[in-house]
Amino acid sequence: MSPIQAEISAWYLVHKRPLPWRETQNPYFIWLSEIILQQTRVDQGMAYYFKFVQAFPTVFELANADEQSVLNLWQGLGYYSRARNLHATAKQVVSEFHGTFPDTYEGLLSLKGVGPYTAAAIASFSFDLPHAVLDGNVFRVLSRLYNWSVPINSTQGKKDFEKMAQELLDKNNPGLFNQAMMEFGALHCKPTQPNCDNCPVQLYCQAYAAQTVDQVPVKLKKQGVRNRYFLFELVQASPDSILLEKRSEKDIWQHLYQFPLKEFADDASKQAYMTALSPAFQSKEYKHILSHQHLYCHFVTRDLHASDTAERISFLAFDQYPIPRVIERFLEDYGLDIFESQAR
Ligand code: ADE
Repeated sequence: MSPIQAEISAWYLVHKRPLPWRETQNPYFIWLSEIILQQTRVDQGMAYYFKFVQAFPTVFELANADEQSVLNLWQGLGYYSRARNLHATAKQVVSEFHGTFPDTYEGLLSLKGVGPYTAAAIASFSFDLPHAVLDGNVFRVLSRLYNWSVPINSTQGKKDFEKMAQELLDKNNPGLFNQAMMEFGALHCKPTQPNCDNCPVQLYCQAYAAQTVDQVPVKLKKQGVRNRYFLFELVQASPDSILLEKRSEKDIWQHLYQFPLKEFADDASKQAYMTALSPAFQSKEYKHILSHQHLYCHFVTRDLHASDTAERISFLAFDQYPIPRVIERFLEDYGLDIFESQAR
Protein backbone atom coordinates (compact mmCIF):
# COMPACT_ATOMS: atom_id res chain seq x y z
CA MET A 1 0.00 0.00 0.00
CA SER A 2 1.12 3.54 -0.69
CA PRO A 3 1.42 5.81 2.37
CA ILE A 4 -1.68 7.81 1.36
CA GLN A 5 -3.72 4.63 0.90
CA ALA A 6 -2.50 3.29 4.25
CA GLU A 7 -3.20 6.52 6.14
CA ILE A 8 -6.69 7.06 4.74
CA SER A 9 -7.67 3.40 5.22
CA ALA A 10 -6.39 3.44 8.81
CA TRP A 11 -8.18 6.72 9.50
CA TYR A 12 -11.40 5.18 8.16
CA LEU A 13 -11.22 2.10 10.35
CA VAL A 14 -11.03 4.36 13.42
CA HIS A 15 -13.52 7.07 12.44
CA LYS A 16 -16.11 5.46 10.22
CA ARG A 17 -19.76 5.86 11.11
CA PRO A 18 -21.67 2.63 11.57
CA LEU A 19 -24.04 2.80 8.59
CA PRO A 20 -26.42 -0.02 7.73
CA TRP A 21 -25.39 -0.28 4.05
CA ARG A 22 -21.81 -0.85 5.18
CA GLU A 23 -22.86 -4.05 6.92
CA THR A 24 -23.89 -5.80 3.71
CA GLN A 25 -22.55 -6.73 0.30
CA ASN A 26 -26.03 -7.32 -1.11
CA PRO A 27 -26.09 -5.26 -4.32
CA TYR A 28 -29.81 -4.51 -3.98
CA PHE A 29 -29.28 -2.83 -0.59
CA ILE A 30 -26.15 -1.05 -1.78
CA TRP A 31 -27.92 0.21 -4.88
CA LEU A 32 -30.92 1.42 -2.84
CA SER A 33 -28.69 3.27 -0.40
CA GLU A 34 -26.68 4.94 -3.14
CA ILE A 35 -29.76 6.18 -5.01
CA ILE A 36 -31.18 7.59 -1.78
CA LEU A 37 -27.85 9.16 -0.80
CA GLN A 38 -27.63 10.95 -4.13
CA GLN A 39 -30.67 12.81 -2.95
CA THR A 40 -30.02 13.55 0.69
CA ARG A 41 -27.50 13.57 3.53
CA VAL A 42 -26.56 10.44 5.45
CA ASP A 43 -28.57 11.26 8.59
CA GLN A 44 -31.81 11.83 6.69
CA GLY A 45 -31.02 9.11 4.15
CA MET A 46 -30.91 6.49 6.88
CA ALA A 47 -34.63 6.84 7.65
CA TYR A 48 -35.52 6.49 3.96
CA TYR A 49 -33.21 3.51 3.58
CA PHE A 50 -34.96 1.68 6.44
CA LYS A 51 -38.41 2.55 5.06
CA PHE A 52 -37.54 1.15 1.64
CA VAL A 53 -35.82 -1.98 2.94
CA GLN A 54 -38.78 -2.71 5.18
CA ALA A 55 -41.40 -2.11 2.49
CA PHE A 56 -39.41 -3.85 -0.25
CA PRO A 57 -37.03 -6.43 1.27
CA THR A 58 -35.94 -7.68 -2.16
CA VAL A 59 -35.85 -6.29 -5.67
CA PHE A 60 -38.94 -8.40 -6.49
CA GLU A 61 -41.17 -6.57 -4.02
CA LEU A 62 -39.97 -3.22 -5.34
CA ALA A 63 -40.50 -4.28 -8.95
CA ASN A 64 -44.03 -5.47 -8.17
CA ALA A 65 -45.03 -2.40 -6.15
CA ASP A 66 -47.35 0.15 -7.68
CA GLU A 67 -45.72 3.41 -8.67
CA GLN A 68 -47.72 5.53 -6.27
CA SER A 69 -46.54 3.59 -3.21
CA VAL A 70 -42.94 4.01 -4.31
CA LEU A 71 -43.46 7.74 -4.83
CA ASN A 72 -45.11 8.03 -1.43
CA LEU A 73 -42.14 6.43 0.34
CA TRP A 74 -39.90 8.84 -1.57
CA GLN A 75 -41.92 11.82 -0.34
CA GLY A 76 -39.68 14.51 1.12
CA LEU A 77 -36.68 13.74 -1.08
CA GLY A 78 -37.79 15.68 -4.17
CA TYR A 79 -36.78 14.84 -7.75
CA TYR A 80 -39.38 12.12 -8.09
CA SER A 81 -37.94 11.14 -11.46
CA ARG A 82 -35.28 9.39 -9.37
CA ALA A 83 -37.99 7.39 -7.59
CA ARG A 84 -39.57 6.44 -10.91
CA ASN A 85 -36.15 5.43 -12.21
CA LEU A 86 -35.60 3.38 -9.06
CA HIS A 87 -38.83 1.54 -9.71
CA ALA A 88 -38.03 1.06 -13.41
CA THR A 89 -34.57 -0.27 -12.58
CA ALA A 90 -36.03 -2.82 -10.17
CA LYS A 91 -38.33 -4.00 -12.97
CA GLN A 92 -35.38 -4.16 -15.34
CA VAL A 93 -33.33 -6.25 -12.88
CA VAL A 94 -36.24 -8.67 -12.58
CA SER A 95 -37.11 -8.86 -16.28
CA GLU A 96 -33.63 -8.81 -17.80
CA PHE A 97 -31.53 -10.37 -15.02
CA HIS A 98 -34.00 -12.67 -13.22
CA GLY A 99 -33.75 -10.51 -10.12
CA THR A 100 -29.97 -10.81 -9.75
CA PHE A 101 -27.95 -7.61 -10.08
CA PRO A 102 -25.21 -7.73 -12.73
CA ASP A 103 -21.79 -8.42 -11.17
CA THR A 104 -19.67 -6.40 -13.59
CA TYR A 105 -19.13 -2.65 -13.90
CA GLU A 106 -20.40 -2.66 -17.50
CA GLY A 107 -23.43 -4.74 -16.57
CA LEU A 108 -24.26 -2.35 -13.75
CA LEU A 109 -23.88 0.65 -16.09
CA SER A 110 -26.55 -0.88 -18.34
CA LEU A 111 -29.12 -0.37 -15.57
CA LYS A 112 -31.41 2.60 -15.89
CA GLY A 113 -30.37 5.50 -13.67
CA VAL A 114 -27.03 3.85 -12.80
CA GLY A 115 -24.16 6.09 -13.95
CA PRO A 116 -20.40 5.76 -13.44
CA TYR A 117 -20.57 6.72 -9.77
CA THR A 118 -23.27 4.23 -8.75
CA ALA A 119 -21.81 1.47 -10.93
CA ALA A 120 -18.39 1.94 -9.28
CA ALA A 121 -19.97 1.99 -5.82
CA ILE A 122 -21.89 -1.26 -6.34
CA ALA A 123 -19.01 -2.93 -8.20
CA SER A 124 -16.57 -2.18 -5.38
CA PHE A 125 -18.81 -2.55 -2.30
CA SER A 126 -20.64 -5.68 -3.47
CA PHE A 127 -18.16 -7.42 -5.74
CA ASP A 128 -14.76 -6.01 -4.67
CA LEU A 129 -14.05 -4.86 -8.21
CA PRO A 130 -11.34 -2.19 -8.64
CA HIS A 131 -13.44 0.79 -9.78
CA ALA A 132 -12.85 4.11 -8.03
CA VAL A 133 -15.88 6.15 -7.00
CA LEU A 134 -15.92 9.88 -7.68
CA ASP A 135 -18.45 11.88 -5.74
CA GLY A 136 -18.26 15.42 -4.35
CA ASN A 137 -16.27 14.26 -1.33
CA VAL A 138 -13.72 12.37 -3.40
CA PHE A 139 -13.31 15.31 -5.83
CA ARG A 140 -12.48 17.51 -2.87
CA VAL A 141 -9.97 15.14 -1.27
CA LEU A 142 -8.18 14.55 -4.59
CA SER A 143 -8.14 18.22 -5.55
CA ARG A 144 -6.38 19.00 -2.28
CA LEU A 145 -4.00 16.04 -2.20
CA TYR A 146 -2.77 16.93 -5.70
CA ASN A 147 -3.51 20.69 -5.56
CA TRP A 148 -5.44 20.25 -8.79
CA SER A 149 -7.35 23.34 -9.90
CA VAL A 150 -8.74 22.19 -13.26
CA PRO A 151 -12.53 22.57 -12.77
CA ILE A 152 -14.09 19.32 -11.58
CA ASN A 153 -17.05 19.76 -13.93
CA SER A 154 -15.01 20.49 -17.06
CA THR A 155 -14.29 17.77 -19.61
CA GLN A 156 -10.56 17.86 -18.88
CA GLY A 157 -11.18 17.97 -15.13
CA LYS A 158 -13.36 14.88 -15.22
CA LYS A 159 -10.63 13.00 -17.10
CA ASP A 160 -7.93 14.17 -14.70
CA PHE A 161 -9.88 13.26 -11.59
CA GLU A 162 -10.92 9.87 -12.91
CA LYS A 163 -7.27 9.10 -13.58
CA MET A 164 -6.16 10.31 -10.13
CA ALA A 165 -8.94 8.38 -8.39
CA GLN A 166 -8.24 5.19 -10.28
CA GLU A 167 -4.48 5.42 -9.63
CA LEU A 168 -4.91 6.11 -5.93
CA LEU A 169 -7.46 3.30 -5.45
CA ASP A 170 -6.23 0.43 -3.30
CA LYS A 171 -6.80 -2.40 -5.79
CA ASN A 172 -6.53 -5.02 -3.06
CA ASN A 173 -9.38 -3.51 -1.08
CA PRO A 174 -11.38 -1.27 -3.41
CA GLY A 175 -14.64 -1.35 -1.46
CA LEU A 176 -13.06 -0.32 1.79
CA PHE A 177 -10.86 2.30 0.16
CA ASN A 178 -13.76 3.88 -1.73
CA GLN A 179 -15.77 4.12 1.49
CA ALA A 180 -12.69 5.53 3.22
CA MET A 181 -12.22 8.31 0.66
CA MET A 182 -15.87 9.33 0.83
CA GLU A 183 -15.91 9.26 4.62
CA PHE A 184 -12.64 11.16 4.87
CA GLY A 185 -14.11 13.88 2.64
CA ALA A 186 -17.39 13.95 4.54
CA LEU A 187 -15.94 14.07 8.07
CA HIS A 188 -12.36 15.33 7.93
CA CYS A 189 -11.41 17.01 4.64
CA LYS A 190 -14.59 19.10 4.76
CA PRO A 191 -15.51 21.91 2.36
CA THR A 192 -14.96 24.59 5.01
CA GLN A 193 -12.72 24.35 8.03
CA PRO A 194 -11.04 21.07 7.14
CA ASN A 195 -9.04 19.65 10.01
CA CYS A 196 -5.60 20.18 8.43
CA ASP A 197 -3.79 20.63 11.77
CA ASN A 198 -4.63 17.09 12.71
CA CYS A 199 -4.60 15.38 9.32
CA PRO A 200 -3.12 11.95 8.65
CA VAL A 201 -2.10 12.92 5.11
CA GLN A 202 -0.91 16.47 5.81
CA LEU A 203 2.62 15.43 4.83
CA TYR A 204 1.44 14.35 1.37
CA CYS A 205 -1.09 17.11 0.75
CA GLN A 206 0.07 19.43 -2.03
CA ALA A 207 -2.62 22.02 -1.39
CA TYR A 208 -1.59 22.15 2.27
CA ALA A 209 2.01 22.77 1.22
CA ALA A 210 0.93 25.46 -1.24
CA GLN A 211 -1.59 26.96 1.22
CA THR A 212 -4.37 26.60 -1.33
CA VAL A 213 -6.62 24.23 0.64
CA ASP A 214 -9.42 26.82 0.56
CA GLN A 215 -9.03 27.39 -3.20
CA VAL A 216 -9.69 23.87 -4.50
CA PRO A 217 -11.73 22.20 -5.85
CA VAL A 218 -12.67 24.66 -8.59
CA LYS A 219 -16.11 24.34 -10.11
CA LEU A 220 -17.40 26.15 -13.20
CA LYS A 221 -20.61 28.04 -12.64
CA LYS A 222 -23.56 26.55 -14.43
CA GLN A 223 -24.92 28.55 -17.35
CA GLY A 224 -28.52 29.03 -18.23
CA VAL A 225 -30.54 28.74 -15.05
CA ARG A 226 -34.18 29.37 -15.86
CA ASN A 227 -36.31 31.44 -13.48
CA ARG A 228 -39.99 30.49 -13.23
CA TYR A 229 -42.79 32.27 -11.40
CA PHE A 230 -45.47 29.99 -10.00
CA LEU A 231 -48.75 30.74 -8.29
CA PHE A 232 -50.50 27.78 -6.70
CA GLU A 233 -54.20 28.23 -6.05
CA LEU A 234 -55.75 26.73 -2.95
CA VAL A 235 -59.34 26.02 -3.89
CA GLN A 236 -61.80 24.45 -1.51
CA ALA A 237 -64.21 22.41 -3.65
CA SER A 238 -66.58 21.30 -0.91
CA PRO A 239 -66.55 21.28 2.90
CA ASP A 240 -64.14 18.37 2.91
CA SER A 241 -62.25 18.56 -0.37
CA ILE A 242 -59.76 20.65 -2.31
CA LEU A 243 -58.68 20.78 -5.93
CA LEU A 244 -55.58 18.91 -7.06
CA GLU A 245 -54.42 18.33 -10.60
CA LYS A 246 -52.08 15.68 -11.94
CA ARG A 247 -49.13 16.89 -13.97
CA SER A 248 -48.80 15.16 -17.30
CA GLU A 249 -46.84 17.63 -19.45
CA LYS A 250 -43.25 16.95 -20.43
CA ASP A 251 -41.90 19.26 -17.77
CA ILE A 252 -40.73 19.04 -14.17
CA TRP A 253 -42.78 16.95 -11.71
CA GLN A 254 -44.26 14.47 -14.19
CA HIS A 255 -47.10 12.42 -12.64
CA LEU A 256 -47.09 14.39 -9.39
CA TYR A 257 -50.12 16.21 -8.03
CA GLN A 258 -50.31 19.92 -7.38
CA PHE A 259 -52.71 22.66 -6.45
CA PRO A 260 -53.99 24.32 -9.65
CA LEU A 261 -51.06 26.29 -11.00
CA LYS A 262 -50.67 29.53 -12.88
CA GLU A 263 -47.29 30.33 -14.33
CA PHE A 264 -46.15 33.87 -15.11
CA ALA A 265 -43.45 35.14 -17.44
CA ASP A 266 -41.91 37.35 -14.77
CA ASP A 267 -42.27 38.36 -11.15
CA ALA A 268 -43.95 41.71 -11.93
CA SER A 269 -46.90 40.11 -13.72
CA LYS A 270 -47.34 37.61 -10.91
CA GLN A 271 -47.32 40.39 -8.30
CA ALA A 272 -49.82 42.40 -10.35
CA TYR A 273 -52.10 39.38 -10.61
CA MET A 274 -51.96 38.71 -6.86
CA THR A 275 -52.69 42.34 -6.07
CA ALA A 276 -55.73 42.33 -8.36
CA LEU A 277 -56.93 39.03 -6.88
CA SER A 278 -56.50 40.23 -3.27
CA PRO A 279 -56.83 36.70 -1.89
CA ALA A 280 -58.09 35.87 1.57
CA PHE A 281 -54.81 34.07 2.16
CA GLN A 282 -51.42 34.58 0.57
CA SER A 283 -48.30 32.67 1.60
CA LYS A 284 -44.79 34.00 1.78
CA GLU A 285 -42.59 33.38 -1.25
CA TYR A 286 -40.93 29.98 -1.57
CA LYS A 287 -37.76 29.84 -3.59
CA HIS A 288 -37.08 26.31 -4.73
CA ILE A 289 -33.88 25.34 -6.53
CA LEU A 290 -33.83 22.53 -9.07
CA SER A 291 -30.81 21.55 -11.10
CA HIS A 292 -31.53 23.93 -13.99
CA GLN A 293 -34.42 26.01 -12.72
CA HIS A 294 -35.11 28.42 -9.89
CA LEU A 295 -38.77 28.43 -8.92
CA TYR A 296 -40.40 31.36 -7.18
CA CYS A 297 -43.67 30.17 -5.68
CA HIS A 298 -46.62 31.70 -3.87
CA PHE A 299 -49.76 30.00 -2.59
CA VAL A 300 -53.08 31.88 -2.58
CA THR A 301 -56.67 30.96 -1.86
CA ARG A 302 -59.44 31.56 -4.37
CA ASP A 303 -63.05 30.49 -4.79
CA LEU A 304 -64.20 27.55 -6.87
CA HIS A 305 -65.02 28.41 -10.50
CA ALA A 306 -67.58 26.64 -12.67
CA SER A 307 -64.77 26.09 -15.19
CA ASP A 308 -62.47 24.23 -12.75
CA THR A 309 -61.54 20.81 -14.10
CA ALA A 310 -59.06 19.64 -11.45
CA GLU A 311 -59.88 16.60 -9.31
CA ARG A 312 -61.65 17.06 -6.00
CA ILE A 313 -59.54 15.37 -3.36
CA SER A 314 -60.81 14.80 0.15
CA PHE A 315 -58.67 16.20 2.96
CA LEU A 316 -58.58 12.72 4.43
CA ALA A 317 -57.06 11.22 1.25
CA PHE A 318 -54.69 14.12 0.60
CA ASP A 319 -51.57 12.48 1.98
CA GLN A 320 -51.85 9.59 -0.48
CA TYR A 321 -50.98 11.87 -3.38
CA PRO A 322 -47.32 12.45 -4.23
CA ILE A 323 -46.62 16.17 -4.40
CA PRO A 324 -43.58 18.28 -5.33
CA ARG A 325 -41.13 19.10 -2.58
CA VAL A 326 -41.95 22.82 -2.67
CA ILE A 327 -45.61 22.04 -1.90
CA GLU A 328 -44.48 19.84 0.98
CA ARG A 329 -42.45 22.78 2.27
CA PHE A 330 -45.52 25.00 2.11
CA LEU A 331 -47.59 22.40 3.97
CA GLU A 332 -44.88 22.00 6.61
CA ASP A 333 -45.27 25.72 7.35
CA TYR A 334 -49.01 26.27 7.02
CA GLY A 335 -50.66 22.82 6.98
CA LEU A 336 -54.13 22.59 5.54
CA ASP A 337 -55.49 24.62 8.42
CA ILE A 338 -56.18 27.61 6.21
CA PHE A 339 -59.19 25.63 4.95
CA GLU A 340 -62.32 25.40 7.00
CA SER A 341 -62.84 21.70 6.74
CA GLN A 342 -65.42 19.63 8.51
CA ALA A 343 -63.57 16.38 7.95
CA ARG A 344 -60.12 16.35 9.48
N1 ADE B 1 -22.72 8.90 0.37
C1 ADE B 1 -22.92 8.24 -0.77
N2 ADE B 1 -22.65 6.94 -0.62
C2 ADE B 1 -22.27 6.77 0.65
C3 ADE B 1 -21.88 5.66 1.41
N3 ADE B 1 -21.84 4.45 0.87
N4 ADE B 1 -21.56 5.86 2.69
C4 ADE B 1 -21.63 7.10 3.22
N5 ADE B 1 -22.00 8.17 2.55
C5 ADE B 1 -22.31 8.01 1.29
